Amino acid sequence: MNALAATNRNFRQAARLLGLDSKLEKSLLIPFREIKVECTIPKDDGTLASFVGFRVQHDNSRGPMKGGIRYHPEVDPDEVNALAQLMTWKTAVAAVPYGGAKGGIGCSPGELSRSELERLTRVFTQKIHDLIGIHTDVPAPDMGTNSQTMAWILDEYSKFHGHSPAVVTGKPIDLGGSLGRDAATGRGVMYATEALLAEHGKSISGSNFVIQGFGNVGSWAAQLIHEKGGKIIALGDVTGSIRNKDGLDIPALMKHRNEGAALKDFHGAEVMDSAELLVHECDVLIPCALGGVLNRENAPDVKARFIIEAANHPTDPEADEILAKKGVVVLPDIYANSGGVIVSYFEWVQNIQGFMWDEEKVNMELHKYMNSSFHHIKAMCKSQDCNLRMGAFSLGVNRVARATLLRGWEA
Ligand SMILES: NC(=O)c1ccc[n+]([C@@H]2O[C@H](COP(=O)([O-])OP(=O)(O)OC[C@H]3O[C@@H](n4cnc5c(N)ncnc54)[C@H](O)[C@@H]3O)[C@@H](O)[C@H]2O)c1
Repeated sequence: MNALAATNRNFRQAARLLGLDSKLEKSLLIPFREIKVECTIPKDDGTLASFVGFRVQHDNSRGPMKGGIRYHPEVDPDEVNALAQLMTWKTAVAAVPYGGAKGGIGCSPGELSRSELERLTRVFTQKIHDLIGIHTDVPAPDMGTNSQTMAWILDEYSKFHGHSPAVVTGKPIDLGGSLGRDAATGRGVMYATEALLAEHGKSISGSNFVIQGFGNVGSWAAQLIHEKGGKIIALGDVTGSIRNKDGLDIPALMKHRNEGAALKDFHGAEVMDSAELLVHECDVLIPCALGGVLNRENAPDVKARFIIEAANHPTDPEADEILAKKGVVVLPDIYANSGGVIVSYFEWVQNIQGFMWDEEKVNMELHKYMNSSFHHIKAMCKSQDCNLRMGAFSLGVNRVARATLLRGWEA
């Protein structure tokens, strides 16, 4: 099942649980605006290359639309649509005053030079600058993009609209980025994991973990879980997977990766088959890479007791059903990876106020938001007698539906 079909299905189940009016249900699914642009750039060798860029703005009933921009060869309109919709529910679950959007460019960022990436980002921004903005749509980094990408967008956007640091979040600190933003999604994953394990009388320090993905989210989650005493026994990225039953030395692995070396060449571990990673024996499995990685083929073999969805939609609905029957507890993406958008909100607030918070305040506020959302989701699970995914979806959909109804939507 593709990402859009899966997201729509979760939304519809939540809408039914809430007893939403069928017209409102239909209206909430339709995106506000879908943008598709051709981005042609000169490559370093003088030839021309063309890439397709997307921005889907899903809903703005609770505030400006918010969502990442992804650079990946598999970016397609359906997936961007699904991710934009997920952002609408995610910002509502997190109780930050935003709607949802998502964007992406179909490209392989690793095969483009820095100057080609800069040209591509600037051309994309030129094509969408009048459709994004501080109070309309605020992009952020996602897979394959980073704070440098946001700096280029900020610079290009400011040529048209004047200096506008709040138009993107996840910026470098020197350009108005927030302290703690780089680590925020991974830190939120750690807080979410802590909250879930505590519910089950467990702790990070008493558990072992398998992590897929060692980019922004995966590496910060790994570091922070390691600092809390959690044992990461296997880890993989696009280059391969490694394991060590006594726990990987994450600071040493970070140093290894930051020197540009591949995971498989790390001395403190043995190389393993990447197909085995998600079904490896562990207490907690944390997918931090692509969507759809847990599906009906591998779900029956999953041995983890808990799955924390740090990636967006890593679990196919068919896998969800299989995992539920096996008693695996899945903490859904629209809550588990919301730390990034929460600190993005703090960054936007700081830019608008022209006042910078210290990192301790950022992390403390993030902790508060993550804990509060967790308890609201649990309360929803209790009142609707449903699992965590439906609890989170119902919470988010209900908040968006209420805002839509209050604004009036039929005229
Ligand atoms: N960065 C954020 O703030 C943020 C916020 C919310 C959700 N997310 C989601 O988290 C996930 C990761 O985002 P990121 O920002 O860390 O991206 P990133 O580009 O920094 O890292 C992606 C990681 O995934 C790995 N990967 C890619 N293809 C893979 C494959 N086939 N098998 C195994 N590993 C593979 C890469 O090697 C890399 O380690 C995405 O699903 C993204 O949508 C990110």
